[in-house]
Amino acid sequence: MVSGDRISFFENRNNQIVLDSTLFPCRDGVLCCENISLVSLAEEYGTPLFVTSRNSLLNQYRRFEDAFAGLQHFTCYSVKANFNVHVIRTLAEEGCGCDVNSGGELYRALQARVDPGKIIMAGVGKSQADIEYAIASGILLLKAESLSELRLIDMIAGRLGRKVSVGIRVNPNVTAETHPYITTGDSKEKFGIEEADLGNVFDVLRQLEHVELNCLDMHIGSQIFDAGFYHAALEMLLDVLATARSAGFDIRYFDIGGGFPVTYDPQKPATPIEHFAEKLIPQLETAGATIIFEPGRFLTANSTILLTRVLYRKHNHAGKEFVIVDAGMTDLIRPALYQSHHEILAVRQQDETIVADIVGPVCESGDFFARERTVDSVGEGDLLAVLSAGAYSAVMSSNYNGRLRPAEVMVDGETAKLIRRRDTYEQLIQNEME
Ligand code: LLP
Repeated sequence: MVSGDRISFFENRNNQIVLDSTLFPCRDGVLCCENISLVSLAEEYGTPLFVTSRNSLLNQYRRFEDAFAGLQHFTCYSVKANFNVHVIRTLAEEGCGCDVNSGGELYRALQARVDPGKIIMAGVGKSQADIEYAIASGILLLKAESLSELRLIDMIAGRLGRKVSVGIRVNPNVTAETHPYITTGDSKEKFGIEEADLGNVFDVLRQLEHVELNCLDMHIGSQIFDAGFYHAALEMLLDVLATARSAGFDIRYFDIGGGFPVTYDPQKPATPIEHFAEKLIPQLETAGATIIFEPGRFLTANSTILLTRVLYRKHNHAGKEFVIVDAGMTDLIRPALYQSHHEILAVRQQDETIVADIVGPVCESGDFFARERTVDSVGEGDLLAVLSAGAYSAVMSSNYNGRLRPAEVMVDGETAKLIRRRDTYEQLIQNEME
């Protein structure tokens, strides 16, 4: 029965799979990443451990590029999804640019040897230091989200003796159906500039000497299943484009943000990227500009699993069954924060199942990966793989409860490379020492 269930994770449903069985195969009943068994990775690197398939990253990037091949475009990986330098570099080596949200992310992208001419910066609250660093690094575009920010960019560019390409993030007032914490394109949210204010923004921009408006931008949210939301927002952004051009601005870039979905739950397969391409390309072609995409999750989410070991099993008199593992909400906060579903598999295939809460060691009731979930029957010491842990997972980790953030490895065929060492106790206090 479990092996039947297991097949559904691997099954190719219109390419919408949680785990690609060619890259995460099950060999002799043991789950592997590419050609290395997760059991041996746990022995070598310890747990909890993020394990990334390099070829999964490459496949997703190529699939995205193939989908939009007919369109003049430029893909900027949104590094907030997974800012590991090696992940960024893997995608950059394929020609991908980067979307960064802060000086820290810019630093990571530059350390990953991304060409500054392929980096764009977003962010609703960029600091003076962020802006200075971005301009001094010579990035392609800074996207502003308020009039005050535009003035600040102009002032800093003037001081640095530069003329800077800017974009304006427009808030299209479209409410994409997704988790409320990850919808960004409606007027209740802090993001972007509303259409009603754009006339004023254009007037101000004409007077600013050190910035040039070359881009219009939107990002309406994350994990969006319905291309209709993009379509509606783009209608509005295309109107703004016409207005901006007739006001004399040379809009060369049209940035539609990220938000393309992935499958977390085999019962809820994501809309294929090819469907978005088919629906949106005709509309995007009318822009007569280079289209910028900022996928984050799409490129990384299902490239990585979080490998964790069962510490204890216990049950209580209320009939609850707990599987206590060595990873926690400090390593993967998505279930606690957004009630997100992550599939969980035993690394060694089991014949029996149990219904249990899979919980971590943190002293919070919210520290769970799954509740009342039918999972493989695992015992103390067994390994579990929490799937879809490549986006908004390690990047959102913390040292709460004095926990050491996990190590990360990247597998390429028969080779595993440590791409982030596990935190140490010394690191926990190093910034507090005199
Ligand atoms: N561009 C901008 C301006 C963004 O704010 C984001 C994500 C992206 C691109 C990439 O979106 P993606 O393609 O990954 O959906 N922590 C949440 C997601 C927060 C998304 C923030 N912005 C989660 O775990 O679901």
